Amino acid sequence: MLRSLLLTLLLATPAAAQNLDSLLARMTLEEKLGQLNLLSANGQASPQQMQLVRAGKLGGLFNVIGAENTTPVQRIAVTDSRLKIPLLFGLDVIHGYRTIFPIPLGEASSFDPDAAEATARAAGQEAAAFGINWTYAPMVDIARDPRWGRIAEGSGEDPYLGSLMAAARVRGFQQSIFATAKHFAGYGAAEAGREYNETEISQRTMREVYLPPFKAAVDAGVASLMSAFNDIAGVPASGNAWLTDTVLRREWGFKGFVVSDWTSVAELINHGVAGSQAEAGRRALTAGVDMDMQSSIYVDSLAALVRSNRIPIRVVDSAVMRILRAKQRLGLFRDPYRARTAPANPELRATARRVAGESIVLLKNEPAGRGAACCAPTLPLAKSGTIAVIGPLADNKEEPLGPWHTQGQAADVVTVLQGIMSKVPAATQVVYAQGAGMEDTSTAGFAAALAAARQAKVAVLVLGERGDMSGEAASRSSLGLPGVQQELLEAIAATGTPVVLVLMNGRPLILEWASDHVPAIVETWFLGVEAGNATADVLFGDVNPSGRLPVTFPRVLGQVPLYYNHRNTGRPPDVHNKYSSKYLDVPVTPRYPFGFGLSYTTFAYGNLKLSPARARASDTVTAIVTVTNSGSREGTEVVQLYVRDEVGSVSRPVRELKAFRRVTLKPGESRAIDLRVALRDLWFYGLDMKPVVEPGTFRVYVGPNSAEGLEASFECIP
Ligand code: NOJ
Repeated sequence: MLRSLLLTLLLATPAAAQNLDSLLARMTLEEKLGQLNLLSANGQASPQQMQLVRAGKLGGLFNVIGAENTTPVQRIAVTDSRLKIPLLFGLDVIHGYRTIFPIPLGEASSFDPDAAEATARAAGQEAAAFGINWTYAPMVDIARDPRWGRIAEGSGEDPYLGSLMAAARVRGFQQSIFATAKHFAGYGAAEAGREYNETEISQRTMREVYLPPFKAAVDAGVASLMSAFNDIAGVPASGNAWLTDTVLRREWGFKGFVVSDWTSVAELINHGVAGSQAEAGRRALTAGVDMDMQSSIYVDSLAALVRSNRIPIRVVDSAVMRILRAKQRLGLFRDPYRARTAPANPELRATARRVAGESIVLLKNEPAGRGAACCAPTLPLAKSGTIAVIGPLADNKEEPLGPWHTQGQAADVVTVLQGIMSKVPAATQVVYAQGAGMEDTSTAGFAAALAAARQAKVAVLVLGERGDMSGEAASRSSLGLPGVQQELLEAIAATGTPVVLVLMNGRPLILEWASDHVPAIVETWFLGVEAGNATADVLFGDVNPSGRLPVTFPRVLGQVPLYYNHRNTGRPPDVHNKYSSKYLDVPVTPRYPFGFGLSYTTFAYGNLKLSPARARASDTVTAIVTVTNSGSREGTEVVQLYVRDEVGSVSRPVRELKAFRRVTLKPGESRAIDLRVALRDLWFYGLDMKPVVEPGTFRVYVGPNSAEGLEASFECIP
């Protein structure tokens, strides 16, 4: 807070403003366009790129790795170039630099913005020590379609959770480097989940669902936004004045800068909204995209248009000033090299393990044993006996890093097998068999896996996706386990040895068979370097799982897109009425709803009270609920509050998450938990497309996920 106040004061001082004004006044048109030019290096700047820096034709570089490579180029910028303007050094530090934390979708499962802030802070500090001053994260795109691989990089389907996570990550990164909220906007709505595909988003849905996390990032002081690849109803986001000027700058008052995505300026030609490079550049720049990533169009093709007044020079000047102000805010004019020290490794690893543990979601945990063990849930496991550890991901060091792991190294990863081995005493026998490769078509490895399972009291099967099956350009048209993994699972289950299915994946998977036949399922996403330790912590009960799904898991692909905050329709699903909104062959409900996750203990809810029962739009309503740990272990519950606006001028979602709280309770402990909802946060876009909180009844649900909970209601009075 104090920091941002100081920064604001600094930016507001006439002296600082004056310096940049006089700098701008000394710049040639080519130097101005140079500041708007951003290129990717290949680890090191190439000789041609160094020449561009010397000539003042580059405002920043990305993918220069290591301070030993950033420093010499910065030296050229601040000593050899005519105006000595320092460079920005960007990188996709998505969920860690060298120390890889859980993928953002996994981390969103923690429902713990402080955890997200902690990992972003650590990642930013580590990156800064290697010369980076600007990350292309957080990705804050709402995603409702698990076919879309980039769902892994965001916080899932909910705008409220997504907004809290966006703001937390911005705060975390910006303790040491600049953040970029991306991809502005609507990228997650790609039709059919096909990467880079067109989108069709109504203005209301855009404003209520897709934009709030960006607004939260802007309010948290994010330095930059990245314009998206997609179009929205025919208008590409990288040439969309409504988004980057009307909404972002005029409505929200954003003072930072907008960078395009990789060649998204040039791609305006493919979109069919520009007939030439110059036209594409003109469209993007005048729409408010300040910096051209990788197209080189601004620097190469726009000078003539400016000279012939087809692009007003004030448009160029405004964009340049935004870049210069950002460099000033970052302190680059004072300290271009920014020598920093990374946090100590043990500290980074401890954060990675703690947050990975919080990110794990227990999806199912039922009894599996025979005889005396018949009634106890399968998990947590005892540390004794023979344990079979099976599957292509069980001892895999690469995939837990996830789809985008910057400088993450497989050698740093603790596998699930290693995590289990280091937890159990020497007398416990751990037998490992890979069973099959990730995408094998052969079942040749099954025999060894079956033998391992047969001799064990439990088989831990670690299955899922390769890391690069999610992330950019990784859409899938089927969401089952790849290769012969499903067959392996069924074969091991058929041995009669109880199975614990540990999943690693970057998106919701279709888990029908497993959900019906396997007693315990643990969703671990891609947890990063501490994957194995964090998974073993949960498997053996040293950590009681507390993760909750930030995204709906469908039963079958045909239900997609499936999300909890849908509208009711005029004919809501009714099993007794054929002419209601449903399928003939599958229920409309998900397999695992948004917000769902189990614990090794149980929680009971009672006594929900709202006060006041009648409130004005400027008031706050407090829900008080008694939550009791009704089981026998300490555990953390994520108490969730959803709201439904029963009658509006526009149909409102059946539920919207408006508050949640992580609460740790000892066995038998009861606590009154209060959750507050400011009524001004119940806005939506009314018939006249203006934000409004309408008087009327609001139903409130407080419970463990989006499909359960106690109910009460309050009146919003005029
Ligand atoms: C393309 C991706 O869409 C974007 O997220 C990323 O930041 C850029 N490439 C730069 O690597």
